[in-house]
Amino acid sequence: MMRYLDNAATSAQKPLSVIAKMWKETLLTSVNAGRGAHRKSLRAVNGINKTAESLARLFNIADPSRIAFLPNATYALNLGMLGALSPGDHVVVTAMDHNSVLRPAALWGNYTIVPAGPDGFVDPGQVEKAILPETALVVCTHASNVCGTVQDVKKICEAAHECGALFMLDAAQSAGCMELDAEDLGADLIAFSGHKGLLGPLGTGGLYAAPDVELRPVITGGTGSLSESLYQPDFMPDILHSGTMNTPAVMALGTAAEIIENPEEIFVRERALAKDFEADLKNMDGVIVYGTDGDNRNGTVSFNVDGTDPAVLEEYLDRQHRIIVRAGYHCAPLAHKALGSGKTGSVRVSFGYFSTDSDRMAVSDAVYDFLNAHR
Ligand SMILES: Cc1ncc(COP(=O)(O)O)c(C=O)c1O
Repeated sequence: MMRYLDNAATSAQKPLSVIAKMWKETLLTSVNAGRGAHRKSLRAVNGINKTAESLARLFNIADPSRIAFLPNATYALNLGMLGALSPGDHVVVTAMDHNSVLRPAALWGNYTIVPAGPDGFVDPGQVEKAILPETALVVCTHASNVCGTVQDVKKICEAAHECGALFMLDAAQSAGCMELDAEDLGADLIAFSGHKGLLGPLGTGGLYAAPDVELRPVITGGTGSLSESLYQPDFMPDILHSGTMNTPAVMALGTAAEIIENPEEIFVRERALAKDFEADLKNMDGVIVYGTDGDNRNGTVSFNVDGTDPAVLEEYLDRQHRIIVRAGYHCAPLAHKALGSGKTGSVRVSFGYFSTDSDRMAVSDAVYDFLNAHR
């Protein structure tokens, strides 16, 4: 039996109804949405709108047309960040952010990185201090993909707004597997993956832009709207919908979103597995666990066996125990520096929707076996 515990990368196991929808729409709706008015094109438009409605319900977004579908959270973060910034603007990001936030900030050039503590938390007060008069945007990840810490994004959002900056949430690790209320949070932009906690197909993600947020187009092209104009439509979602979309995948993402009734329940279940796993690890000599052991964390755990290359343990768990985890920097090098794993990266176990206590016990036993075999 294989056990998949790399859910922070993507939820490799998909509900059967999502797979079935993907197949069905590949047969019926492998067409461009909104190009022409033929019946297949209209079926695609309706299907995409339905997914937007399902996600709007899940994220408490009043207007589903403010959600654009993109291939993943990376595209959403790039298009959101570069689209919200104008020449001369400064952007604030954090050390817990993923490279899909850090690299667009570095590409932009005028940015500040707010440090994080060894527990994996960013202090909202430090974010406030980093905001300059020319700061137009603050970006922060909701939950760390390295150690699972959940940031106080409400306070960070308030700090941005008090200084007149926009706030963008990176919800790659939270969409679908944590309560995410766009209205209550007040974020101006929310980037999400469709293929992780939302349990949708690979190649899905999106960007929500609040009603008063204006973006500049970054990628222009055919949208099926205002086709007589040389200029990109300036309205959502068309401003972000350049080129052919993976219509069947977006429609299947809608099926996935309908399955997720209570993200908070999923969060609590995954967090319990992570906390029990951490407790197991802390009982083993020579194991270092990174980040908080408090309650503001999700189902992702990072650790190392002292003196062991994380890649060696990753390979051992796969080859000897058929347990899939991930070793390395997880595209978040500054988070590792803050947590104390900057030299090697870590082994990451990330529990997901389908994870069970049997998975948790199996991975704990396998790490224990590794320690015995290598001591
Ligand atoms: C915190 C965070 N942000 C952004 C991304 C990028 O997401 P995607 O793979 O959908 O581009 C990831 C992916 O692991 C992530 O963990």
